[in-house]
Amino acid sequence: MSTHGNRTERGRWRAVATVATATALVAVPLTLSSTMATAAEAHVDNPYAGAKQYVNPTWAATVESAATRAGDPTLAAQMRTVAKQPTAVWMDRISAINGNADGNGLKFHLDEAVKQKTGSTPLVFNLVIYNLPGRDCFALASNGELPASDAGLARYKTEYIDPIVDLLSDSKYADIRIAATIEPDSLPNLVTNMSEATCQASAPYYREGVKYALDELKTLDNVYTYLDAAHSGWLGWDSNSGPTAKLFAEVAKSTKKGFASIDGFVTNTANSTPLAEPFLPDPTLNVGGNPVRSSKFYEWNSDFGEHAWTAQLHRLLVAEGFPSSTGMLIDTSRNGWGGPDRPTKVSTSTNLETYVNESRIDRRTHRGAWCNPLGAGIGELPVATPSSAPAAAHLDAYVWIKPPGESDGASKEIPNDQGKSFDRMCDPTYVASKLANNLTGATPDAPLAGQWFEAQFTTLVKNAYPVIPTSGATPGPTPSVTPSPSVTTPPPPVTPSPSVTTPPPPVTPSPSVTTPPPPVTPSPTANPAGACSVTYTANSWNNGFTASVKVTNRSSSALSGWNLKFTFANGQQVQQGWSATWSQSGSTVTATNAAWNGTLAAGGSVDIGFNGSHSGTNTAPTAFTLNGATCTIG
Ligand code: BGC
Repeated sequence: MSTHGNRTERGRWRAVATVATATALVAVPLTLSSTMATAAEAHVDNPYAGAKQYVNPTWAATVESAATRAGDPTLAAQMRTVAKQPTAVWMDRISAINGNADGNGLKFHLDEAVKQKTGSTPLVFNLVIYNLPGRDCFALASNGELPASDAGLARYKTEYIDPIVDLLSDSKYADIRIAATIEPDSLPNLVTNMSEATCQASAPYYREGVKYALDELKTLDNVYTYLDAAHSGWLGWDSNSGPTAKLFAEVAKSTKKGFASIDGFVTNTANSTPLAEPFLPDPTLNVGGNPVRSSKFYEWNSDFGEHAWTAQLHRLLVAEGFPSSTGMLIDTSRNGWGGPDRPTKVSTSTNLETYVNESRIDRRTHRGAWCNPLGAGIGELPVATPSSAPAAAHLDAYVWIKPPGESDGASKEIPNDQGKSFDRMCDPTYVASKLANNLTGATPDAPLAGQWFEAQFTTLVKNAYPVIPTSGATPGPTPSVTPSPSVTTPPPPVTPSPSVTTPPPPVTPSPSVTTPPPPVTPSPTANPAGACSVTYTANSWNNGFTASVKVTNRSSSALSGWNLKFTFANGQQVQQGWSATWSQSGSTVTATNAAWNGTLAAGGSVDIGFNGSHSGTNTAPTAFTLNGATCTIG
């Protein structure tokens, strides 16, 4: 509590000193004025407008040193352009405040920020508040130092938030605009991952911790608060976005200043979801008889990118009582998706899955893949009120919250004293049920979350989109024109096959995520014996095969939740499956519905499949059960 007392003292002093300085200026020699606390400016609507942003010299030096090893001169020059860009400073544990082996402390950065401020041009300092009790409750890679307990919360308040606010309240920093990203992933986890015991345990501490952080940070006029709002591939479904806006409103109302305690929201923090899909502009477009959004990649989510997500979220927030001035930020540090695998045109396929897979610029195996995604590139350079964004997105700026080149998590167990664990989402050999049984697509040989990962950094620069310029691009105070991408206007979509759009399934899919929630598995309803049929076809080669399984509900009532079981005769193994959650125990395989296909109407069918391995003989299974009932073949 003593630090807290000091801060309040200093905060009060600051207010008095500000007035004194302003009046004293007339009599004080001009040479002194630059070293004195200047008049604190009024809180503005968009702190980024007309401002420069802080460039972290420590990170820039690391990037510069990577440039010396880049080999290729063009790549080296691009890295040097990257080194000039502003990135956020993460307070990822208590020791980060004073500085530790991984970096300088907050005071160092704030003092540097004061040096970087030139004349009357405002300077924004991007700060990440990231140390809640029970942090990262649905994943392991960024688990934190504080337990989800009353004692953890007490430490969060007195040893973490209070000292940070103390430092920020120093009058020296009164005219630096502090833009605080508040607790990435925390409140979003409470929307989608409350089936997890760890998130249940963290929930009260997340709410109370975020409220406390807002209350304390908002004692300072030069602080701007942006709550983390995940990304479109996590919260875009209507079934998630509505509850998200309600939760944010509840948290806002719990604070001392209510809605005024939140300046805005930041999406895509440390994620790689693109701003939009240039070749998939219409989620409802019908291809092969179904809307694009019903494809496996989008799982009925209509928000294909962050512009759509911030627009949707803003609309919902205003409906919940937030002021329309609420501003949005998007972390574009790693959502560029350029490089050789970027599609250059819309697909001409009439098969929905092929169409989507050939058209999408997001090359991840699944939208829930969050750990060091291989193939991602740097996105738009930081810029205020980006002119390329739709007005409905309500953007204050594109920002780089995740410093490019810092790992999301280790690809194997690495002992550490930060509480971080090994999350298999960071292991490229892992087929993840959280990713609809796709491989994670993570970059191999990754170090611990937050550590420098040069191999990834090199790919991020090479795959940047827009391409990083080799010179110039020093971020200026005015919204700069982003380097010219090659033409982004998509060609008109191919007219899809005329068949009638299949109505979406009544089960609204649950998302997959930065930290994807488990699919909602409704409890299976009874299914009378003989009330199902299955067709199973397999294409085999050497020791591999792809199997397609069509399951039809032959009963007279709909199923809400289903599981299919069968047994292999020759030691076959499921490697990777789709449209269901696949598991195998011995020779018995179980496929449980995905979140979006759990309802199986009477007479309705679902197509699922998998890639498998075999050792020479690959007899098709003959006995299938659906919810325990025997199925006929064919
Ligand atoms: C890590 C932090 C790190 C941040 C920025 C997070 O994933 O857990 O330790 O500071 O990324 O790289």
